[in-house]
Amino acid sequence: MENEVYKKVVRCAESVKKITDFKPLIGLVLGSGYGEYADMFEKVAEVSYDEIEGFPVSTAPGHAGKFVFGYLEGVPLVIMNGRVHFYEGYDITDVVLPIRLMKLLGAKVLYLTNAAGGINSDFKPGDLMMINDHIATFIPSPLRGRNIDELGLRFPDMSHVYNLDLQDVLRKAAKEAGVELKEGIYAQTPGPQYETPAEVQMLKAMGADAVGMSTACEAIAGNHAGMLVVGFSTVSNLAAGISKHPLTAEEVFETTKNVSGNIMSLIRESVKGIDAYLKEGGR
Ligand code: HPA
Repeated sequence: MENEVYKKVVRCAESVKKITDFKPLIGLVLGSGYGEYADMFEKVAEVSYDEIEGFPVSTAPGHAGKFVFGYLEGVPLVIMNGRVHFYEGYDITDVVLPIRLMKLLGAKVLYLTNAAGGINSDFKPGDLMMINDHIATFIPSPLRGRNIDELGLRFPDMSHVYNLDLQDVLRKAAKEAGVELKEGIYAQTPGPQYETPAEVQMLKAMGADAVGMSTACEAIAGNHAGMLVVGFSTVSNLAAGISKHPLTAEEVFETTKNVSGNIMSLIRESVKGIDAYLKEGGR
């Protein structure tokens, strides 16, 4: 094992395993303002990022910075409460280190959530949008540098980053939960500044339905490592130029908090559905 990036992930995994031997089935990344939901899971262990040797510690407001290990509906999960963003200044390989770490801890499924600006004119703040595909062209590839052969291929296919079967699971879960689930394409920008109206129009012309500063790079890393990726965005605001007022981080947190009931119901139902899908031999 010569790859320095991989060695670091392995060291982090060893560091976590010293604290807990919990084996998660799903790695769930909670987005901006979702942090408090980590307390709704049946907690078994908690590992703060600063306890993990070499781990990039999140500095973003509203991001607690810990892994919570436990159960939701009896399904073993690791919850990443507070993600690492590219705009914080980390190298892109550090930004996706937690994803690879969750893979090494045993997670088969990568479940991504975020807050995003709505571009699609059918969207309003508070809507939930399942991610069908993404545009990650504005950020460096998390796979750049020497390939980690232990995880995946040098030139991985990205035709279906978001697993088609798990997309069906989410659609069904939304129905069960009585939550309306929109669908669309998520574009990741580097941030930390929000987009200009001209940039939003560009993204719209490219086919994006929502925009945010995370997630796509994580989905690429998860897909590369053979994880089944699924996720949804909470439309926390209308994107710049579409919104009638200037964008603020407070609005993002406030909207997410207001629809926390829907978010939690969707996560709960879909975790049950994902577990059932895997047990049926989906993978
Ligand atoms: N743009 C980028 N990131 C975001 C937005 C937005 O409008 N809302 C929440 N995260």
